[in-house]
Amino acid sequence: MPHSESAPTPVGLHKLAFGGDYNPEQWPEEVWHEDVRLMREAGVTMVSVGIFSWALLEPEPGRYDFGWLDRLLDLLHVNGIRADLGTPTVAPPAWFYRAHPEALPLSRDGVRYAFGSRGAICHSSAPYRAAAANITEQLARRYASHPALAMWHVHNEYGVPISACYCDNCAVHFRHWLTGRHGSVDAVNEAWGTAFWGQRYNTLDEIDPPRTTPTVGNPAQQLDYARFADATLRENFTAERDILHRLAPGIPVTTNFMTALSQCESIDYWAWGREVDLVTNDHYLITDGRRTHVNLAMAADLTRSVAGGAPWLLLEHSTSGVNWQPRNPAKRPGEMARNSLSHVARGSEGAMFFQWRQSRRGAEKFHSAMVPHAGTDSRVWREVSALGADLGLLDGIRGTRTVADAAMLWDWQSWWAQSLEWRPSEDHDARERADTYYASLYDQHLTVDFAHPEADLSAYPLVVVPALYLATEETGRNLRRYVENGGTLVVSYFSGIVDADDAVHPGPYPGVLRDVLGLTVEEFSPLGEGETVRLTTPEGAPEGPDLTGDVWTDVVIPRGAETVWSYADGIPAGRPAVTRHQLGKGTAWYVSTRLSGPHLDTVLDRARADAGIAARTGLAHDVEVVRRAGESGTYLFAINHSGADTEVALDAPGTELLTGKPAADRLAVPAGAVRVVRLDG
Ligand code: GLA
Ligand code: ZN
Repeated sequence: MPHSESAPTPVGLHKLAFGGDYNPEQWPEEVWHEDVRLMREAGVTMVSVGIFSWALLEPEPGRYDFGWLDRLLDLLHVNGIRADLGTPTVAPPAWFYRAHPEALPLSRDGVRYAFGSRGAICHSSAPYRAAAANITEQLARRYASHPALAMWHVHNEYGVPISACYCDNCAVHFRHWLTGRHGSVDAVNEAWGTAFWGQRYNTLDEIDPPRTTPTVGNPAQQLDYARFADATLRENFTAERDILHRLAPGIPVTTNFMTALSQCESIDYWAWGREVDLVTNDHYLITDGRRTHVNLAMAADLTRSVAGGAPWLLLEHSTSGVNWQPRNPAKRPGEMARNSLSHVARGSEGAMFFQWRQSRRGAEKFHSAMVPHAGTDSRVWREVSALGADLGLLDGIRGTRTVADAAMLWDWQSWWAQSLEWRPSEDHDARERADTYYASLYDQHLTVDFAHPEADLSAYPLVVVPALYLATEETGRNLRRYVENGGTLVVSYFSGIVDADDAVHPGPYPGVLRDVLGLTVEEFSPLGEGETVRLTTPEGAPEGPDLTGDVWTDVVIPRGAETVWSYADGIPAGRPAVTRHQLGKGTAWYVSTRLSGPHLDTVLDRARADAGIAARTGLAHDVEVVRRAGESGTYLFAINHSGADTEVALDAPGTELLTGKPAADRLAVPAGAVRVVRLDG
């Protein structure tokens, strides 16, 4: 389990992981020999194989063809390359669906998905579960003691391309799950508030999945269905994992996560992080105009956090462009290495890619790879080989842990609830708040851990809560305890509003956060599209710059909190906009409007000072400095995402590992470059 001191590592891998998804079944066997030669040339240490190979491994029900996989694993082994072996259960063969058409999932609108892509699975289907268990068992029996086997890669990215099925089998399974969560139909009626709009149920059998309704469906039913869908996927994962543990003891089991908030929204990774032996993640840059390196850092920090701070492994990213966005730019020279090493700085024990050799056929032939269509006389190949060599110089960091300065609370369940329909403003987006608060901390050069709202926060001087709409009473007590004991808390608007059933907490907003924040909110007053409000420091308060907010305002009544900025216009004009509450040994800030960029930076800078964290003023914009520390020493990563050469002050001399040069008190980091210093002492 990753929450122990040291997470299990891939068996027999004594270096950082470097390699990718390897799909040799797409190529004649002569190419395999060329592949392993090039893998050795590039310094590849591990590849992921067999993820989509069910139709080849079991061409007919109960008839197996393992010959090709035997030869492949032997070839990898003699070449010193470790294998991350997939269970191919994300891609059942055509014959399976002919026999069990009901295992194809049903959309919310009642459309039956077809075979011919991947991931078309009703995870409640008993025949699917039996067939998946069987192929997993066959693989485990055959390869448990194969010398190339380093770890198991179960399924692929649970939760995408779809996470929920709405079929009748799922309805039965959902009713069973509801019994486990609520106990009785009366309890479900209470939790879902079915007195509203006459939705009362007499028996659990009357309850269906939240299929498409004429207007807004019951929010608590939708929230429970999201939980049920996540739990169903997790049941499937743990069933395979348990088979692998039983038949192949000692081999770590993982499944590749997609913690980046825009790439898989349906999985509660806090729960999944406890189920895998080793947390692994896939990450792709979303080129929608946001700063991709900041979003990458955030995904890596979130992945480390679901691993409980232990090392994790980046199992997929891309060498250059992907092919599933509307526009897929190539990576700039050096960008791939900056991406890879930012993941490593933030806790990954290597950098792996999708995929090794670019496909000629199929849906992903225009997705970049380690060996591109252009061949080895190409920039991508040269950068891949250089990265392999660089990673070979960083072995010492294995087992060290990233050092964080602050924490941000994140809860997938709160996000699901907050994303439902008919909220005060469609312009409020919890994901946007998380991104914006994260970017502000990133720009102050603070390294951020993510934490579940009920987790122990005492290690962090500063905790930021971007928008935590759903918050339990325990969360309220936790945050109060945290502040009373000396922590500094920053909470955004629309936090602490509902309980786990999406029911509004009794009394004025913000429910369970009233005490800690020292205020109540009498009314929400979201702004019109494009409308802004001005915030000024009130008379008697220390002077500050005027700030501008948009999207949201609250009518705040202070009950112990002091007003730091107040609304100069808008409906709450003259009332508090940003407040600060001293409670016990700590301080709790409340930000009742949407602040971004320099406006948010100003508030977070004050909170940082309250938290006693020194300002990192000497570092240039877009220069990422992150530390990993452990028994083997302290390592400082400096990644220059900017177009200008820069310098980073070191608090101890050391050795720069990629160039081999000694590093004194100032480390030069050229534009676009990465430097890794092992600090002395
Ligand atoms: C995901 C999948 C891979 C591949 C890549 C392409 O991460 O796991 O099989 O489709 O996306 O970006
Ligand atoms: Zn189903």
